[in-house]
Amino acid sequence: MVRTVGVAVVGFGWMGRVHTQAYQRVPHHFPQLPVRPELVTVAEEVPGRAEEAAEQFGFPSTTRNWRDVAADPRVHAVSITAPNFLHREIGVAMAEAGKHIWIEKPVGLTAEDARAVADAVAKAGVRGTVGFNYRNAPAVAYARELLASGELGTVTHVRVRLFSDYAAHPDGALTWRYERARGGGGVLGDLASHGVDLARFLLGDIESLAADTAVFIPERARPTGATAGHTLATGGELGPVENEDYVNCLLRFASGARGVLEASRVSVGEQNNYGFEVHGTKGAVFWDYRRMGELGVSRGTSYQDQPVSTVFVGPGHGEYGAFQPGAANAMGYDDLKVIEARNFLRSVAEGTSYGPTLEDAVHSATALDAMSRSAAQGTWVTLG
Ligand SMILES: NC(=O)c1ccc[n+]([C@@H]2O[C@H](COP(=O)([O-])OP(=O)(O)OC[C@H]3O[C@@H](n4cnc5c(N)ncnc54)[C@H](O)[C@@H]3O)[C@@H](O)[C@H]2O)c1
Repeated sequence: MVRTVGVAVVGFGWMGRVHTQAYQRVPHHFPQLPVRPELVTVAEEVPGRAEEAAEQFGFPSTTRNWRDVAADPRVHAVSITAPNFLHREIGVAMAEAGKHIWIEKPVGLTAEDARAVADAVAKAGVRGTVGFNYRNAPAVAYARELLASGELGTVTHVRVRLFSDYAAHPDGALTWRYERARGGGGVLGDLASHGVDLARFLLGDIESLAADTAVFIPERARPTGATAGHTLATGGELGPVENEDYVNCLLRFASGARGVLEASRVSVGEQNNYGFEVHGTKGAVFWDYRRMGELGVSRGTSYQDQPVSTVFVGPGHGEYGAFQPGAANAMGYDDLKVIEARNFLRSVAEGTSYGPTLEDAVHSATALDAMSRSAAQGTWVTLG
């Protein structure tokens, strides 16, 4: 029998909306899931925003205070899609209240924050899923499978890139993202967190790293009203950008493989240019998020001049079959979140974790902290 899971969303900006849509779409794509999410309530501090969400998506109740969600017995599972500085407080409180959590990356401001949420989840015996959505792309799942099969030989090195222009406009408002106290790291938490997770997903644990960071737009105008996403602001008082716009990092993996991870939020001309190239002794895989359904694959026995062919993902690659019946029908970002919602709800239903967990968030956050330390000290840092 299908069981109902009451869900709540805390913070209704971009991610709050995407999580809500994912809950609504999950039964369409994964009808065999033994649980059905039922929207119960949405918490949002900006006046009117929760009410608009309720009107549009059908939440039967709203609140300005997320603590009401922790106390609500109708709520079994909570999406935590508020800014980073609230992840620890809300994540720990929800777990202690016995709620399962689907929490956005990077899970707090530091590895210590991520660890606190992970410990609370473990102690409460609830399930925790983290928003490392790029893992869910069927082409990424296929790349992992190919690498694990040994067909591409021993993995030697990876290049992971995450270039974006979301902060390239000098009029981009000084939102929580640019403050240490509310955002933590800059592009480290925003984009490099995804890069670290992808690198670990494909190549295993990172042993040590050496990073360099930079701030290229040192001041921005303070917003005059409520913000969501990447709001522009002109005329407001200027304030300092407190975290990095750019990071470049050398990686050494426990396997002996090497890597380079580069991420920027201020690269004019780059829109969601995320991807990787992984090289093995016999082949390679190439992925670009903007062509999510394609994986470049070089395999064979030639070593030199070995061709690269494009595989269009289809049923049989990751969760593609839940969306389209034949190869080369494009999937989108929101579909990755539907897969994530499925993993979360399946974890809740079965009591076993599917998809990235809070422990993965701790690993990612530990690497990000190490990047900050390495950049400040100018040295390699070994991950504990
Ligand atoms: N997985 C991804 O690809 C991805 C993409 C974007 C953002 N994120 C993560 O999602 C989180 C949210 O990012 P976003 O882009 O949606 O930000 P956003 O600014 O668009 O939304 C955050 C929302 O939280 C609300 N909020 C702030 N304080 C609150 C409180 N005390 N109680 C309730 N609501 C509160 C804000 O008013 C806003 O509506 C961040 O942690 C970010 O790192 C993940």
